[in-house]
Amino acid sequence: MIIAQISDTHIALDMPDADRRILDFERTIWDINALDPAPDIIIHTGDIVQNGRPDEYLRAAEALEKANAPVYLMVGNKDDRANLRKTFSSADYLSTNSEFIAYSIEGFAVNLVVLDTLHPGSNKGDFCEERIADLIKILDADSDKPIAVFAHHPPFLVPEGPEPLHFKTDEILQRFRHTLQRSASVMNIFCGHVHRGVAGFVGDIPVLVMPSIATTLRKGDYPPDLTTCPIYHLHSYDPDWGFTTELRIVPD
Ligand SMILES: [Fe+2]
Repeated sequence: MIIAQISDTHIALDMPDADRRILDFERTIWDINALDPAPDIIIHTGDIVQNGRPDEYLRAAEALEKANAPVYLMVGNKDDRANLRKTFSSADYLSTNSEFIAYSIEGFAVNLVVLDTLHPGSNKGDFCEERIADLIKILDADSDKPIAVFAHHPPFLVPEGPEPLHFKTDEILQRFRHTLQRSASVMNIFCGHVHRGVAGFVGDIPVLVMPSIATTLRKGDYPPDLTTCPIYHLHSYDPDWGFTTELRIVPD
């Protein structure tokens, strides 16, 4: 099974780099479409748009329509749950029985658990009692399959950048980390949000954070000829070896 992870496209319509953000997004989709073997699925780990606006989601939807593989979306701090659901109304998985957009993707060798760490009006992540209870239900469900978790905000301190803590409080972060370690089936956690490639741990569980697809917002130093090349992650799962991740650079 192969998952193409994309993140932090931050589609905006009225910013100086708006065209570049759309181009980065579209070129990434073209690159994913050209992969051989093709990925089974594309997961966007949030901050799809910049301001949560319906017109921004419509533009993002135009780019995503061109994807050959099935696309699953999740929310980041810049997203708006209602506008996301409205724009992608045919995406059944977004119509959860809760205000939160958290769901599982089944039918693969690994169960993919997509979480909602959005706290509206804040760039920091949240994981309230209700979300903890929902996650516990998913993790305790009787399944012999391994689990990969997707969350927008990284559940560890990221020392690179101005603020290492990406949740509202350290207590929330610790509670979230504790819940994630509840099941020995959780093999990997994949995130976005900080716009740079970093890796960490939740206990023994490796966490991998991908850079932003939006090259104008990407953090970290890149050689000049790579500054306009989006970077995304391809996670391949093998039953004996678990996940390996390839970093893909989209040629300019
Ligand atoms: Fe974010």
